[in-house]
Amino acid sequence: MEKLKNVFVFDHPLIRHKVAILRDKNTSMKEFRELIEEITTIMTYESMRDVELVPVQVETPLEVTTQYKVADDSVAIVPILRAGLGMVNGVHKVFPTAKVGHIGMYRDEDTLEPHEYYCKLPEDIEHKTVFLIDPMLATGGSACDAIAALKQRGCKKIKFMAIIAAPQGVEKVALAHPDVPVYVSTLDRCLNENGYILPGLGDAGDRLFGTK
Ligand code: PRP
Ligand code: URA
Repeated sequence: MEKLKNVFVFDHPLIRHKVAILRDKNTSMKEFRELIEEITTIMTYESMRDVELVPVQVETPLEVTTQYKVADDSVAIVPILRAGLGMVNGVHKVFPTAKVGHIGMYRDEDTLEPHEYYCKLPEDIEHKTVFLIDPMLATGGSACDAIAALKQRGCKKIKFMAIIAAPQGVEKVALAHPDVPVYVSTLDRCLNENGYILPGLGDAGDRLFGTK
């Protein structure tokens, strides 16, 4: 894969440990859900190094000091349905007051083409840093279209975060949207003939919600 400036692959030992358990087909739905959330929280810390801070005056027991806080209401979370829902609590652990929008995308099983079926966003989303989240980045079609949909609705600062990604998906998103940082916990080998990531973890939505 070409080295792209807007792609960040985490190589954190704790993430590697958790991803190893996540991939295991014998991991229960409960544990799978918890791991997705925990990995998301670690990734959120890492990907927010450039978050906007505003100065505030704080009175300690000893004196008044200028400190810096994340600007109120400056972050929104947008999961790509369904599987992105599993990551929302992980971001909320870091930004408990972040409003949540939803984008519904499904991949046609034969063509692998994404289709948008739902979009509901917080009213003032164009002024926020938007965390677009989906555990799986395979062909990149869903993420590319979801980012385009957010831009069309006025979003200017978007960060995309995925847990497992295939190289072609990362490349597609990063090249189509060079202004969007793409954060990936783990870069996998390739896609199989059905568009599933290898070694991957299977269907993230089904494993999160027990639908298969
Ligand atoms: C999965 C996954 C991504 C998409 C990735 O969703 O959660 O949204 O596939 O594939 P792509 O990069 O090739 O577009 P899916 O369409 O299976 O829907 P679901 O989350 O409702 O199961
Ligand atoms: N969506 C998934 O849930 N898993 C994959 O491997 C690819 C797309």
